[in-house]
Amino acid sequence: TGLVTLDPGFVNTAACSSAITYIDGDAGILRYRGYPIEQLAEKSSFLEVSYLLIYGELPTAAELEDFTHKISRHTLLHEDLKRFFDGFPRDAHPMPVLSSAVSALSTFYQDSLNPFDPNQVEISTIRLLAKLPTIAAYAYKKSVGQPFLYPDNSLGLVENFLRMTFGFPAENYDVDPDLVRALDLLFILHADHEQNCSTSTVRLVGSSEANLFASISAGINALFGPLHGGANSAVLEMLEGIRDSGGDVQAFVNKVKNKEDGVKLMGFGHRVYKNYDPRAAIIKKTADDILNKLGGDDSLLDIAKQLEEHALSDEYFVSRKLYPNVDFYTGLIYRAMGFPTKFFTVLFALGRLPGWIAHWREMMNDPATKIGRPRQVYIGQTERDYKPVAER
Ligand code: CMC
Repeated sequence: TGLVTLDPGFVNTAACSSAITYIDGDAGILRYRGYPIEQLAEKSSFLEVSYLLIYGELPTAAELEDFTHKISRHTLLHEDLKRFFDGFPRDAHPMPVLSSAVSALSTFYQDSLNPFDPNQVEISTIRLLAKLPTIAAYAYKKSVGQPFLYPDNSLGLVENFLRMTFGFPAENYDVDPDLVRALDLLFILHADHEQNCSTSTVRLVGSSEANLFASISAGINALFGPLHGGANSAVLEMLEGIRDSGGDVQAFVNKVKNKEDGVKLMGFGHRVYKNYDPRAAIIKKTADDILNKLGGDDSLLDIAKQLEEHALSDEYFVSRKLYPNVDFYTGLIYRAMGFPTKFFTVLFALGRLPGWIAHWREMMNDPATKIGRPRQVYIGQTERDYKPVAER
């Protein structure tokens, strides 16, 4: 194998074949299992999209009912797992709490870790889809020092999650249907994005035949980084920074162009999209409506819009084909919904979960799968002789 090609960041290297998600980055096209993201965003639901990604087809009414029922039966966390949350510092970032709890699922479900037993994979799939919202809500409750709420299985997945996050045990929590619909839509838009960093991580870990929980936990850690899912929190911090230093958008854009202190326009640019990110286009359209309804902070939305305008008419961004990505407007919406900035990336993880699971399962069923093991180009020392410490 003398023909090793160096490709940092896998810019030109396909690591697998996949039938799940299609992206045409030049045309700004995104499809899940052939269905355009615009149609799914308008007409489908997050659970239906999860089913589509994982099983390959839209569910029939009976299949959707069965899937929904199965998931609602697995939303509870083991009481011992609940105690994990006590061990973290109260100001812990919720992403490592999330990945730790998912990793710990391997210890609670030792009888269903065989990646080649379809029944075991199926029950692990359901458990993950059902429990991640509960884990996420408990990470939030822990951070604000409020009591945990048991899931209410008469509610839908998103509604249940919002109630466990923002509700109190002794109060009725009337979940606003507009809020449910908005979060459901954001989850649909995040549900898959082919071989992005976290999905590739899930595949790489899974390629060693590690179990589903272990692989997803690794994916959550990959998503945490600010160049990936962490960008949604970073965008908000950037907008607040611009506002707090006087709101001079052009000055900030200049700083980015001059690459001062390595400052980037967070929420801009994408490895694959060299055109407007179709997810960002949908979100931008709904951001105004949602923010009006929820009473979001208009000053930050104004700054975001100005930033976009400045960037899209600037040679630096135009020549590099940098457009807003999915993370540019989501933070403003999450904030208006009442989520703290630190929690935004957890919401991305909840949305991306079905995609990760679909890719892990596709890989496990693909006879062409081999353990992921990239090569390298060695640039270190040639052979040299060991010197005793006294001679160094
Ligand atoms: N602000 C300023 N300049 C940028 C940006 C940006 N956001 N993104 C890319 N560039 C420049 C970059 O400096 C380079 O310029 P030059 O050729 O002069 O060195 C050129 O554009 C090409 O960029 P690259 O770094 O080679 O592109 P990449 O494909 O390796 O990186 C990216 C893609 C998404 C990591 C990058 O665009 C970025 O860091 N964006 C900001 C973080 C962000 O919003 N991430 C979310 C991505 S979308 C969803 C998700 O995965 O979470």
